[in-house]
This record gives sequence, structure tokens and C-alpha cells, in this order.
Amino acid sequence: MTLDEILGLSPVIPVLIIDDIEDAVPLGRALVAGGLPVLEITLRTPVALDCIERMAGEIEGAVVGAGTVISPAMRKAVAAVGAKFCVSPGLIDGETAGGPAPLLPGVATATELIAGIAAGFTCFKLFPANIAGGVDALKAFASPFQQARFCPTGGVSARNAADYLALPNVVCVGGSWVAPAEAVKAGDWGRITALAREARALAPV
Ligand code: 3PG
Repeated sequence: MTLDEILGLSPVIPVLIIDDIEDAVPLGRALVAGGLPVLEITLRTPVALDCIERMAGEIEGAVVGAGTVISPAMRKAVAAVGAKFCVSPGLIDGETAGGPAPLLPGVATATELIAGIAAGFTCFKLFPANIAGGVDALKAFASPFQQARFCPTGGVSARNAADYLALPNVVCVGGSWVAPAEAVKAGDWGRITALAREARALAPV
């Protein structure tokens, strides 16, 4: 699938930090059951690559990608275990959009957008969205960067996600709020499915 196709599947991409491999599949199933099939597993724990592999293989209907990809080596590693896309908090020198796991790079400024567009990217993660100017920044980027589409992430929650999703240059948002750490720790999959359902209802897809 192309990045555009993947980002078009869901208004919200859960950003997941998974500490215990045993949580990976039930957590992913809970989110998919609530209507959020696109899952970003961040490379922030020792089990992250194993989680990606297991979730990609075992969760029907999920499109599993990797987050916090900050080097070409990490991009190769996640593609090798079955990641369908990569998300980075910034631009990665020399990396382009395509490949087996297409890349959604992060930007926070106009200069970074210009560099990303020159490298062939059209979709960007605005990161950290709330600090980088939020809705106002995206409105300001719309006219000079007409080809750019965004997935704002960082400080997005049930409180402000609809404001972002209402913008024509926003394709989806990312956030961790749909999988609170305490709910994951408690194995409260019902709560996570309920949060996913609410998130899914934020915008028609
Ligand atoms: C990310 O990891 O991309 C963001 O830090 C997620 O931000 P959030 O925890 O504020 O949703």
C-alpha cells in the first residue's frame, strides 16, 4: 500500500509504546475492534521490533507500522519484520518516500518542509504538533505548500483532534491518548476499544 492509502484508512493513528510483548496483540486487536486499523509501534522499547512482527502477523485487519524511526538502519530493520510504513519525528538524511515501508517524516518549520518536498515527500507528520504551532501553523502552511498533507502528532487528544481533522490539509492525526499506559498495564482492552471507537467517530473516512 502507498502511504496515501494507509493514511486514508483512519482519522487517528494510535502511537504505541509497548513495554511487554504479551500486550502487543491484545492491544492491537482492541484498537482494530474500535475501528482504528493503522497502528504505529514506536521503537522506544527493547521489544518494539518483536511487537511489530507479531502484530503484523497475528492481527487481522491491522496495518502495522513503526514509529520513532530515526536512521536508515532502523528503517531497514522495521521493513524486515513486516512494518508497512515508517514514521519519523524528523527528516532522515538521504531517505526518500517510497520503498517497502513508505516513510512519513516529521517537520516543524517551513525550511524543513522545503527540504522534505525537495526529497519527494508530500505527506508530513507535524511534530510536535501543538508546540510547532498547531492548527494555526497548518493553516499558515496551506497556501505556500499546497502539495503538502499532514498528520499532526504530539499533544493531539480527544479534546483537539477534531480541530485538526477539520483542516483540508490534514489527512489524519496521531496520538497516544487512545492507549493510556495504565489501561495497557491493567489489560483493560474494553476501555481501549471504547477510546478507539470515539476516535474513529471524529471524522468520516
Ligand atoms: C509521538 O510519539 O509521535 C508523539 O510523541 C505522540 O504524542 P502524544 O503522546 O502527545 O500523543
